[in-house]
Amino acid sequence: MNIFENIESIQNIIYIFSSILFISGIKMLGKEDTAVKGNFLSALAMFIAVSVTFINVINPLIVLIGIAIGATIGSLIALKVKMTSIPEMVALFNGFGGLATFFIAWSEFNSIPTNTFQYVLIMITTYIGGVTFSGSIIAYGKLSERLKIEKSSIITKLFTTLFYISIIYLFYSIFVAKIFIPSFDFFTILLILTLLGGIGFVIPIGGGDMPVVISLLNSFSGIAAAFAGLMLLNNVLIVAGSLVGASGLILTIIMAKAMNRSIGNILFVGYASKSSGSKSEETGEVKAINVSDAYLILENASSVIVIPGYGMAVAQAQHVVRELGELLEENGTEVRYGIHPVAGRMPGHMNVLLAEANVPYDVLVEPDDINPSMDSIDVAIVIGANDVVNPSATEEPGSPIYGMPIIEAHNARTVFVLKRSMSSGFAGVQNPLFFRENTRMLFGDAKESIGGLVTEFKE
Ligand code: TAP
Repeated sequence: MNIFENIESIQNIIYIFSSILFISGIKMLGKEDTAVKGNFLSALAMFIAVSVTFINVINPLIVLIGIAIGATIGSLIALKVKMTSIPEMVALFNGFGGLATFFIAWSEFNSIPTNTFQYVLIMITTYIGGVTFSGSIIAYGKLSERLKIEKSSIITKLFTTLFYISIIYLFYSIFVAKIFIPSFDFFTILLILTLLGGIGFVIPIGGGDMPVVISLLNSFSGIAAAFAGLMLLNNVLIVAGSLVGASGLILTIIMAKAMNRSIGNILFVGYASKSSGSKSEETGEVKAINVSDAYLILENASSVIVIPGYGMAVAQAQHVVRELGELLEENGTEVRYGIHPVAGRMPGHMNVLLAEANVPYDVLVEPDDINPSMDSIDVAIVIGANDVVNPSATEEPGSPIYGMPIIEAHNARTVFVLKRSMSSGFAGVQNPLFFRENTRMLFGDAKESIGGLVTEFKE
């Protein structure tokens, strides 16, 4: 065995060690008390894997310069980004992961693939990497509301057509184009079509569905990296890419399930055309309540469930919500927080906001934990949540959200709904909860209403 083979073996052993650290780190992310450590462990694994790759790099200075530029830009963006803009940042970072694999595949093509397997890997990696890049840029534009294009517009239709053409062309590249004497002309067309196809993949999807799309594109960037690992015969890239690919896909499936929609419906149909004929236009009289009366009821409650939704994020009410929770507890009330998996607009949105406000993790409950005992809860306080507490999802087969699991706030003894108006939520359907006998609407900005309750308790 010569010295280079020895170095490669050591490198591979360290790669396996890094992979074990990655997996342990990801596992630790599942619990609040180990999450920070898990994040650190995964970052350390990445640092070790990148460092050991240096051993046999011909010109380490160029790589170091690249890392320095990337690390500086990445850190600056991550330090500056607001909590509510994290999904946009994730979209951008996914895109650059895709772009990196797109370039790797392109450069491998230029060094002329030696066998069919290598050739096929190059075609697939180019395609997935390119679609991930341009698709992520569009997802970023839509999520940040910088890009507003109608689904029915000519531009959308044109790009959607290009997406389908790009898929056909990928198959042509793999099965028909000359395999052993690769022609640069057909590859250039593949590069262009791939980038246009990525735009066409994301452009018809509604802005509200972008979190699901971003999670899917995250999975794509992992799959592209895993293919690049196969192409370069790099074990750690295969493992890390597969982990990202699988976890992104699992998250996408969880989000789709929590909305009771298929991934196909999200990508190719959209909310509006899923179903029609929701009956719940108007179902009775709305009973409004003011802060002072709401306080009197809360003061006598022995159990309260707080159900936050997108409106809590808009109002940035999480800190006053925690304050109210503490005051209620001091008053002898048992307080828990019902967290729906798709409340808000990004995975874990409510968890992140409540964690930011230091609400203890052990008082957060999932719908399945709280629904069976909801009728024993004195007051459910719905804060800027709408779809995730809409009883139509369980009671009205014609409703577009029928079948979506909800937090059954309507079964609590009294329900306070805090929102500014009678307008509908993300799904665009009316909510019969607002008209129920046991519901009281506390109209206004959530932060102001909760702030008012806090003041009442303090006085
Ligand atoms: P929504 O159904 O979107 O309802 C949010 C409510 O908040 C609105 O009805 C709005 O009513 C109210 N609101 C807005 N600003 C407010 C403020 N400053 N103060 C008080 N209320 C305010 O939210 P949800 O119940 O959290 O449901 C989430 C929806 O997003 C679901 O349909 C889900 O499928 C979808 N979705 C979620 C995700 C993820 S991963 N979370 C991803 C894609 C889609 P007013 O305007 O009357 O105040």
